[in-house]
Amino acid sequence: MKVYFIGAGPGARDLITVRGAELLKKAPVVLYAGSLVPPAVLGYCRGDAELIDTAGLNLDEQCQVYSRAAAAGADVARLHSGDPSIYSATAEQMRRLEALGIEYEVVPGVSSFTASAAALCAELTKPGVTQTVILTRVAGRTPVPEGEAISQLATHGATLCIFLSGPYLDSLVADLLTQYPPETPIALVFRVSQPQERIHKSTLGSVLNEIVLDEWKLTTMVIVGDALACDHSEESRLYAPEFAHLFRNASSFKEDK
Ligand SMILES: C[S@@+](CC[C@H](N)C(=O)[O-])C[C@H]1O[C@@H](n2cnc3c(N)ncnc32)[C@H](O)[C@@H]1O
Repeated sequence: MKVYFIGAGPGARDLITVRGAELLKKAPVVLYAGSLVPPAVLGYCRGDAELIDTAGLNLDEQCQVYSRAAAAGADVARLHSGDPSIYSATAEQMRRLEALGIEYEVVPGVSSFTASAAALCAELTKPGVTQTVILTRVAGRTPVPEGEAISQLATHGATLCIFLSGPYLDSLVADLLTQYPPETPIALVFRVSQPQERIHKSTLGSVLNEIVLDEWKLTTMVIVGDALACDHSEESRLYAPEFAHLFRNASSFKEDK
C-alpha cells in the first residue's frame, strides 16, 4: 500500500501527467481539495473509488483516512492542484506518514505558474531582461519569513510569480511599485486552463484602475516583470549560429583564445 501525492495540474483534464492519470484510474481511495481540484480531473477516477474532499478535514482526520486505507491494503491517490511541491502542505502529511510507517511517492504536476505563462505565451526568463523567476506569495494566515517581503524580493527585478495573493492585490501592487517602475508589465490569470479562465494584462501603474478587485480574489496567479513585455529582448546563445555545444557544431565558430 502506498500514498501517491499527485500533481493534478491547473485544472484542465489533459494537464495532469500521464503517470498521475494512470495512478488515479487505479486508486481505490482518492483525497482531493475540492476548492482547487476541478471535477474534470476527478473524471479519471474509477467508478467505485472512495472520493474524499479534504475541505472539511483537518490533518489528523486525513491521517485517519491514510491509516484506514493502510489497514485495508488500499492505495491512496492524494491530489494536489498544480505541482505538489508548491504551497500544498505536503511536508506535514509526509512527516505523519513516516511516523505511521506508510510508504509514499510524489508525482509532479503542471504548476499554475507555468500554465499561466503558457496562457500568456510568455517566456519568463528572457536574455538581457532577467534570468531569474521568483515564486512567492504575500503573507496570509501563513506568515512569510523576514527577508521575503515583496518589496525586498522586488529589488532583484526578476520575474515574480505570486501565488495566493488575490485578496491582497491592492497592497501587493503598492509594494511592487516601491521597486518596479509603473510601466512594468503585470498579468493576472484567473483559473487558468479551466472554463472560467480570465486574463488581464496591464502595467503596475494602471492595473488597479482597470479591474474589479473582487473578481480576482480567488485562484489567481499574478505575474510581474519586464519579461512579460513584447519588446525585443536579446536572443539567447542557445540557438546562435556561431555557438557550438555538445549536440551542435557551430556554423563558423572560431574559438576565442
Ligand atoms: C494552495 S496554492 C497551490 C499551488 C499549486 N500547488 C500550484 O503548483 O499551482 C493555490 C494558489 O495557486 C494559484 N493557482 C492554483 N491553481 C490555479 C489556476 N488554475 N489558475 C490560476 N492560479 C492558480 C493561485 O495563486 C492560488 O491562490
